[in-house]
Amino acid sequence: MSHVLVSLAWPYANGPRHIGHVAGFGVPADIFSRYMRMAGHDVLMVSGTDEHGTPILVQADEEGVKPLEAAHKYNRIIVEDLHALGMSYDLFTRTTTGNHYNVVQEMFTSLYDNGYIIPKTTMGAISPSTGRTLPDRYIEGTCPICGYDGARGDQCDNCGNQLDPIDLIDPKSRINGETPKFVEEEHYFLDLPAFADALNSWLDTRDAWRPNVVRFTRNLLDDLKPRAITRDLDWGVPVPLDGWRDRPDKKLYVWFDAVVGYLSASVEWARRSGDPDAWRQWWHNPEALSYYFMGKDNIVFHAEIWPAMLLGNNGKGTHGGKPGSLGELDLPTEVVSSEFLTMEGKKFSSSRRVVIYVRDFLARYDADALRYYIAVAGPENQDTNFTWSEFVRRNNDELVAGWGNLVNRSVAMAAKNFGEIPAAGELHDVDTELLASTKEAFTTIGDMLSANKVKAAVGEAMKTVAAVNKYLADTAPWKLKEDKDRMATVLHVALQAVDDCKTLLSPFLPFSAQKIHELLGGEGVFAPMPRIEEVADLDGTGAIGDGSYSILTGDYSQVPTWESRPVKVGQPLDKPTPIFTKLDASVIDEEIARLES
Ligand code: MF3
Ligand code: ZN
Repeated sequence: MSHVLVSLAWPYANGPRHIGHVAGFGVPADIFSRYMRMAGHDVLMVSGTDEHGTPILVQADEEGVKPLEAAHKYNRIIVEDLHALGMSYDLFTRTTTGNHYNVVQEMFTSLYDNGYIIPKTTMGAISPSTGRTLPDRYIEGTCPICGYDGARGDQCDNCGNQLDPIDLIDPKSRINGETPKFVEEEHYFLDLPAFADALNSWLDTRDAWRPNVVRFTRNLLDDLKPRAITRDLDWGVPVPLDGWRDRPDKKLYVWFDAVVGYLSASVEWARRSGDPDAWRQWWHNPEALSYYFMGKDNIVFHAEIWPAMLLGNNGKGTHGGKPGSLGELDLPTEVVSSEFLTMEGKKFSSSRRVVIYVRDFLARYDADALRYYIAVAGPENQDTNFTWSEFVRRNNDELVAGWGNLVNRSVAMAAKNFGEIPAAGELHDVDTELLASTKEAFTTIGDMLSANKVKAAVGEAMKTVAAVNKYLADTAPWKLKEDKDRMATVLHVALQAVDDCKTLLSPFLPFSAQKIHELLGGEGVFAPMPRIEEVADLDGTGAIGDGSYSILTGDYSQVPTWESRPVKVGQPLDKPTPIFTKLDASVIDEEIARLES
């Protein structure tokens, strides 16, 4: 049993979640966490809203409100979206809390004390018309390395290289198209080249990563340059140095603060749990495992910059040093990056209305229907297209006709003929074979899930469902009216196999697993759900001040173990109602029309 940290990239608090946001890594990370808990590990699943930086400033400007107001609004909406999806966070918090500010500043200080943060004068972009700083991400131009013409000031999404805005050929502001002016600015830089050797040796030991992530990261490590970690902005975590701390015009770069969120959220969770040191078991423990889930555009921050910050905090770069006030911290075990989801062949875009918000989706369809689609057809290893016709087909053919119908048929037949779960008589070969195969599925699917092969795992689970359907077709219990003993045995075996499938599917489909658990007479919580809680800030030193905010948390300590459990013979059964909802084909045209309206 291990301590397993599950870190999910922090969504910007600049809008509701759309299904592209949750399909790549959100739901898959929840599936992983749910499985790892059932397998007996101590999981700590953390994230929160990313509330500094330009995406929030731009949104706030658009709405004519202060950045904190926009952050409050979207934090709450995102919390509700993730809650409705059944995302089992131990803590989903925010980057504007006092706790986060403190931990970020401690991290900065230990890096600074160890000599990994250096002052430098650089050329920063400002907008000639407003005189305001133009953030890197809002400058677009041609990549000087590969020639791609949609490169951003911070990074080229085509070749993956980090850039400085001043390197761009023909730079333009994405806000109003004007050409930025470059002026001298004083900033602090993270000395990334000092970690080149340490990062490369660390990456050498990371053999289980998806090959594309390793390749991408190697490429990044070939070209390390110092990177500015302060910005000319008035919205962000203050720079904890004399002469800088109170400056309204200089803050830490949003990415520097955001990645520290994994650590600060772990600390906040521990403080709220009543054991303020509990986080150390996931961070100071060489045996602990940590998985970071994100979209591929975030690899650089999780496979290069965050590990470099951790190494610097630990004193493990070329300047040496010693662990700072946070102690020696563990580096990521695995960076699990997903690809992108497109929507009916187009890139998701809120502005162009190529978007389906999670809350709209869930207002019309079940969370498990979306979770199933994501598991079976999400962008795990390649960019993947969401289409309404495939959603309806998979829902109807696989969830409803394949799995839901199996549950209904077997429970209904047992209810009608016995009024309870019947006892089995002597088992035939087909019976023992089926039960052996569902038992074996726990190992197969468990291995796949612990390696984050969600697609393969759900495919295997649905194969098990198909085997039970075939068993019913072969044994035809409805024809056994004259042989009640054999009928009892067959239905007992079928219900046992259904119960096993329910357990096997519960990481993917927690809402229906709970329903089926109750249908078969189970008590209590089978698939635990997160809850929204209103809490007071612990420190009052962040942008939130002494305010309160909503978090997602939950008690997942009672999860069932990942194994077959014998069904309860004699358990009364009622005629069941359907578990899943069949969708009419007209849904497809309706939804496409919505997109185009
Ligand atoms: N907010 C970023 C994005 O949506 C992700 C931040 S991940 C973190 O691209 F770790 F840095 F928080
Ligand atoms: Zn490029």
